Amino acid sequence: MAVGVVIVAAGSGSRLGANVPKAFVTVAGRPLLWYAVRAALRSRPAAVVVAAPATHLDDANEAIDALRGEHGIPVQVVPGGAERGDSVLAATRWLPAECEVVLVHDAARAFTPSEVFERVAAAVTAQTPAVVPVLPVVDTIKVVDADGFVVRTADRDTLRIVQTPQGFRRDVLLEAHRLHGSLATDDAGLVERLGLRVGTVPGDPMALKVTTPEDLDYADRLVASADWAGSSAAALKPS
Ligand code: C5P
Repeated sequence: MAVGVVIVAAGSGSRLGANVPKAFVTVAGRPLLWYAVRAALRSRPAAVVVAAPATHLDDANEAIDALRGEHGIPVQVVPGGAERGDSVLAATRWLPAECEVVLVHDAARAFTPSEVFERVAAAVTAQTPAVVPVLPVVDTIKVVDADGFVVRTADRDTLRIVQTPQGFRRDVLLEAHRLHGSLATDDAGLVERLGLRVGTVPGDPMALKVTTPEDLDYADRLVASADWAGSSAAALKPS
């Protein structure tokens, strides 16, 4: 099945404290959006659509200009919406009809290795119409009440941290958004509400969501350290 990638980049990213939307904050001279689109292209989808802030369409086009035509894959920039779910839908509508599998990726997870895109896409099937990349939880997680007192300790073995890209059969993604879209902070959560199965594949620590200035410092060091043992940091370096 042909795969289309939707990259949502239309948020303001106010927690980062930058004076541009998060997707345009730079690491080693390149905007986060550039890293996100490059990783998506390296997984060789049929098409990539970026939902950018309506006020920054030119900036988005400029950010990815050098990547256009890479591997002959079309990259389209479209205006996102007021909520994340609106951005997902706006971009999905632009994907060619042949893309029966849609990967929805946050531009904020700019350093996600392309292998994660490939794993997620490969795991989407008719029986498993939604797939999320996950990491095990290493900390103990406690549920607390409104006063901060511990109610119980969660069973860590059953918990996972969820990342993006999340993969869907296109018809399922659209139906989930049509019925429950206003609740969308997590697309797979909408599919759960349809009562359908959501599968998991291994995520990657590099798929961290750049949210705070500290995350940005970390990303700067990550990209700078081409010899970071055992990592694909070298592949991240702008070339
Ligand atoms: O705000 P948050 O960090 O949860 O946003 C996750 C992703 O969704 C970001 O990549 C952001 O750019 C995107 N987003 C969007 N349109 C919105 C809000 C968020 O594309 N209206």
